[in-house]
Amino acid sequence: MRNKIAVIFLVFVILYTAPGFAAEEIKNAKQLFAENPSPEVSLTIDPMIDPALRLVNKKNGLAWDDVPELVFPDINTKPGITAQQCAPMAKEALEALFAAAKAAGWDLAAVSGYRSYTAQKLIYNRKVEERGEASASLSSAPPGKSEHQLGLAMDVSCASIDYRLNKIFADTNEGKWLYAHCAEYGFIIRYKTEWTKITGYKGEPWHIRYVGVEHAKLIEKLDVP
Ligand code: DAL
Ligand code: ZN
Repeated sequence: MRNKIAVIFLVFVILYTAPGFAAEEIKNAKQLFAENPSPEVSLTIDPMIDPALRLVNKKNGLAWDDVPELVFPDINTKPGITAQQCAPMAKEALEALFAAAKAAGWDLAAVSGYRSYTAQKLIYNRKVEERGEASASLSSAPPGKSEHQLGLAMDVSCASIDYRLNKIFADTNEGKWLYAHCAEYGFIIRYKTEWTKITGYKGEPWHIRYVGVEHAKLIEKLDVP
C-alpha cells in the first residue's frame, strides 16, 4: 500500500512539474493527501531520486555510523551554545531562510541541528528516565530514528521565549513567520500537531526539515487541515 502511494505520488510530482498539468491530477493528489496528510507520503519517494527526501521516522532508522558530510551554516545561534551543523545541501537554504527572516524584522536562532546517533541516545534516554517511555517517545526520537542525524533538520527558536523549544514558539512573530515562509526556502514544519497520528510525535513548530523548495511547496500546497 505504502509503495503504491509512493508511486502514485511520484507520478504526481512528475506530472505536476510538466507543463499543462491537469486539474484532475491535482484533485487526485489532494485526495491522496486527505487520506495521508503528511510529508510521510512524499518522503517515501526513493531517496536515490532525491537525497533531500530521505525518510527517517519511527519505522525507518539510520545506523549508528551513518554520518553525513557536515558544514557550519552561517546563521544566528542561541547564545551560549556551539554553532550548529547541517548537511551541505541545507546550508545555503538555512542561510537564505534566516536572512529573509531578519530582513522581515525577526531574529531566528538555531538551537539544535545535526545530532549524532550517540547524542540522540543521550537525549532520548534522559527523557525516558524523566517521563517514562510512552511520554518521551511522543517528543523525542530513539537513537537512529531522528532526522537530526541526517543533518537536514534544525530546531529554531527566538529570544522572546528565551530560545526554548516549546509549542508557544508557534505564537511568536518568529514562529509565525517561519510557518508562513519556510517552504519558500525548502523547509517544512515536519511535526504538525494535526499529524501526530501519522508521525507519532506531538506538534513541534520549531523543527524544520529540508526537503528542497519544490517538495516543500508541494507539501504545503497539498496540506489538508
Ligand atoms: N524531536 C524530534 C522528533 C527528534 O528527536 O528528532
Ligand atoms: Zn528537532
